[in-house]
Amino acid sequence: MRKVLICAGTGCISSGSPKVTEKFREELSKRGITDIEVYNTGCHGFCEQGPIVIIEPDKTFYCRVEVDDVPEIIEKHLLGGQIVEKVLFHEPQVDKKVEKYTDISFYAKQKRLVLHNCGHINPERIEDYVANGGYEALRKVLTSMSPQEVVDEIKKSGLRGRGGGGFPTGLKWQFTRDAKGDKKYVVCNADEGDPGAFMDRSVLEGDPHAVLEGMAICGYAVGADEGYIYVRAEYPLAIKRLQIAIKQAEEKGYLGENIFGSGFNFRIKIKAGAGAFVCGEETALLTSIEGNRGMPRPRPPFPAVKGLWGKPTNINNVETFANVPLIIKNGADWYASMGTEGSKGTKIFALTGKVNNTGLVEVPMGITMRQIIFDIGGGIKGGRKFKAVQIGGPSGGCLPEELLDLPVDYDSLIKAGAMMGSGGLVVMDETTCMVDVAKFFLRFTQKESCGKCVPCREGTKRMLEILEKITEGKGEPGDLETLEKLAYNIKNSSLCGLGQTAPNPVLSTLRYFRHEYEAHIYDKKCPAGVCAALLEYKILEDKCVGCGACARVCPVGAISGERKQPHQIDPEKCIKCGSCMEKCKFGAIVKG
Ligand SMILES: Cc1cc2nc3c(=O)[nH]c(=O)nc-3n(C[C@H](O)[C@H](O)[C@H](O)COP(=O)(O)O)c2cc1C
Ligand code: SF4
Ligand code: SF4
Ligand code: SF4
Ligand code: FES
Repeated sequence: MRKVLICAGTGCISSGSPKVTEKFREELSKRGITDIEVYNTGCHGFCEQGPIVIIEPDKTFYCRVEVDDVPEIIEKHLLGGQIVEKVLFHEPQVDKKVEKYTDISFYAKQKRLVLHNCGHINPERIEDYVANGGYEALRKVLTSMSPQEVVDEIKKSGLRGRGGGGFPTGLKWQFTRDAKGDKKYVVCNADEGDPGAFMDRSVLEGDPHAVLEGMAICGYAVGADEGYIYVRAEYPLAIKRLQIAIKQAEEKGYLGENIFGSGFNFRIKIKAGAGAFVCGEETALLTSIEGNRGMPRPRPPFPAVKGLWGKPTNINNVETFANVPLIIKNGADWYASMGTEGSKGTKIFALTGKVNNTGLVEVPMGITMRQIIFDIGGGIKGGRKFKAVQIGGPSGGCLPEELLDLPVDYDSLIKAGAMMGSGGLVVMDETTCMVDVAKFFLRFTQKESCGKCVPCREGTKRMLEILEKITEGKGEPGDLETLEKLAYNIKNSSLCGLGQTAPNPVLSTLRYFRHEYEAHIYDKKCPAGVCAALLEYKILEDKCVGCGACARVCPVGAISGERKQPHQIDPEKCIKCGSCMEKCKFGAIVKG
C-alpha cells in the first residue's frame, strides 16, 4: 500500500505539519481514495527543511511542504506518478534538486542505526515498532540469556555512554549487578541540558519503545524491577509519547509483571525535571527524583552502589539505552565491527551553526570532522571559510581547521582538548570571534552553576569578568595567564563535572586561537569584526557617492557630508550599531 509519512516531530509541528496532515486526509477522502495511508512519524533530523513529507515505497522526500502544495502532490504524484519538483530538496553542493531521501547526501552519508525507526514508523503505535523487530531483543534476553550473559554481551560490544563522559556501559552494568541490595533501579537520563542539542528528544519522540526496551534489558541484567526516565518538562511531546509507549507496552505485556512468562517484572515511571543544566549530572538528577533540589553530591559512593533512595542504581543516557536492543539483536561482534578501537558503534550529533545542512546526524565513530561538515553538512554557508567547530557543548572545546581530519572518537577528542559531550557540533566561519564564543559558553555554565562549591561558583564568575573585559577592549597584559591559572584551579577543585569542564571552551580557544585573544588585548582589534567595542566604522572615500542614505539611518547623527560628496563618520559619536553599513548600497562602509 502507498503511504504518505508526515513528520510530527517538534520541529515539523512548529513549521505546520499538523495542518498538512489534516489537508492530506481531507483531500484524499474528498476524492474517495482509501488505499493510501496517511500517517505521522517522528523526527527525521532535518527539521530545518520541515514540514517533511515522504511518499513510500517511492522514497520520495518532499520538504517545506505547505498546505497549498497538498492537492498538487495528490494529483500529480499519488495519482499521476509524477514528481512535484518545487517541494523537492535542493542539494547545495551540486546545486540540484534530489528526489529520493536515499540520494540526499545529508542522509546517504550517515549511518542511521539508533535513528533507523525515526521518521519511518509511527511512534504512537507499538505495532509499528514490533513489526520492525521491536521487543525481540527483550524476548531474547528473557528467554535465552542469563543476566550475566547480557552484561557480558554489552561489555563485548564496546558500547560507551553517550551522555558525555563515555564510560564503558557494560562495566557500569556489572557494578550495579554486583552491588548488594534486594531493590535496585534503572534510570534514564533524558535531561539533555546542552544548548542546541536535541538528539535525545528526537529519539524519545520518534522511537520511544527503543529506550523502554533498552531499559528493561538493563533491568534484567542488573537485577532491577523499576525504572525512571528523568526528562525535562520542556519536552512535552517526548513526555506524551513516552506515556503512550509505556501504556501500550504494559498492555502488550512487554512491561509489567512476568514479562514473556519469564518471571521478570519491570515497570517504568516518568519524572519531569525543571530543566536545570546541573540536573543532568547523575547525582543531582537522583537527588531531584527524590524530591529535593537537584544539587550534585560527592562520588564515591557512585550511584551503582548507593543511588536512588540509597539503593544501587544504573543510570544511562537515552542514546545509550537505544543502542542496547540493536546490540542484543545483532550481536556484540556486529556492533564492535563499527567504529574505532576505543569507540564503537555510531554517535548522533546535532549539527548547527554556519553549515548548509543543519540537523541531527548519526555517523560511525571514527569519521572525520571534515566528512561530517562537508559531506553531510554540505559545507559552509554562503561559501565562507571554515574557522572552527565547537564540539561537546559547554563541557567541550573548539577545534581549528588543522584538526578537520581528526577522527571523531572519545579519546582523540580528549587529546585535542575537546570532548564528545552529548553531541553538540557548532560550525563556525571567519565571521565568528573565538573570544566571544568562549564567553558565550562560560556565561552559560556560570549561570547554571548550582553554587555549592566555591571554585565553580566564584571562579567562573572571575573568568567571565576577564573575558568581558577583553571583548570590551579593556584587556591587559597578564590576563591570559590569569585566565589559565583560574581555569586549571576550577577544573581541579570543583565538586562535579559542571565545574570540572566549564573552563574547557576557554582553554581550547586559548590553545588554538591565542592570537585572537592577543589581538583584542594588544592591538585593541577584534579580527572577526564581532566585538562592538573594538570596531570602527569607516567610509571609503573612493566608493562613497554621497547619497546620504547612511546619514538618514544613523540613530545618533554621527554621519555628515555634502550631497554627492564623500561622507564621514564621527568616531566619538558612533555607537557601532552597524545600520549604516547595512544601508549603503555601494559597499562604501567598512568595519574593522
Ligand atoms: C553538568 C552536567 C550535565 C550533564 N547533563 C547530562 C544530560 O543532559 N544527559 C545525559 O545523559 N548525561 C548528562 N551528564 C552526564 C551524566 O552525569 C551521566 O554521566 C550520564 O547520564 C551517564 O550515562 P551514560 O553512561 O549512558 O553516558 C551531565 C553531566 C554533567 C556534569
Ligand atoms: S562544580 Fe559547580 S555545579 Fe558542580 S557542585 Fe560545584 S558549584 Fe555546583
Ligand atoms: S550610503 Fe554609502 S554611498 Fe551613500 S553616503 Fe553613505 S557611505 Fe556614501
Ligand atoms: S554604526 Fe550606527 S552609529 Fe555608527 S555611524 Fe553607522 S549608523 Fe551611525
Ligand atoms: S521534526 Fe520533522 S524533521 Fe525534525
